[in-house]
Amino acid sequence: MAGPRITVVQDGEELARVAADLVADVISAIPAASIVAATGKTPMGLYAELAARRRAGILDTGAISAVQLDEYLGLEPDDDRSLLGWLQRSFLEPLGVGDDRVLRLPVDGDLDTACAAFDRTVEARGIDLAILGLGPNGHLGFNEPPSDPKSPTRVVELTPITLEANARYWGEGAEVPSEAVTLGMPHLLSARTVVLVIAGGGKRDIARRALTGPIGPEVPASFLQQTDAAVIVDRDAWGEP
Ligand code: PGA
Repeated sequence: MAGPRITVVQDGEELARVAADLVADVISAIPAASIVAATGKTPMGLYAELAARRRAGILDTGAISAVQLDEYLGLEPDDDRSLLGWLQRSFLEPLGVGDDRVLRLPVDGDLDTACAAFDRTVEARGIDLAILGLGPNGHLGFNEPPSDPKSPTRVVELTPITLEANARYWGEGAEVPSEAVTLGMPHLLSARTVVLVIAGGGKRDIARRALTGPIGPEVPASFLQQTDAAVIVDRDAWGEP
């Protein structure tokens, strides 16, 4: 295994373009690709670029499907803070991915049983592409530290650092639920293609730790060092190239 391929870009525009090229390559090779797409600020430029390419008729997303990466627990379906809602607005609707092509994480009922069933379904389907961001604490999805390569799809208690970072998406004083469900690590680490996008000076320390530090559950993203993930990181997050 050659390890991650790290591309350092100047700014958000270049990050979006370089990442969109990789995503487009996957979709052109596998038109019915099964895709995990993270919410968060970092991939938003990428999703806008993909939508622009679709509108221009140079990207056909008509057969892709999506697998949900993470969701808070205890929200009403129409809550603004729903991550599925965010995914719908930023990725699914702009790319024309209808509800029938979205595998939604379970958010109620017997979650242990439902998460295990979800894992079996995803395992059978396989993930062709995982578009991921890097949490301030090294999480992937809501695989909070400690998470290891076997950590399954499950209910998680969000750490204070994640709660604080994610509340900011919804403006000052906002709060987010402290419990969530996350797609498990095995699906992310075994995706045929992983595109990890990282931006901003606030990620510099965790980006280095994740990609060059010791590999272990305290930094879940460090397990990507054992894959050939494509990492696209901006200059602020990585330092001078
Ligand atoms: P961000 O979130 O893209 O908003 O920095 C990343 C994450 O928490 O996974």
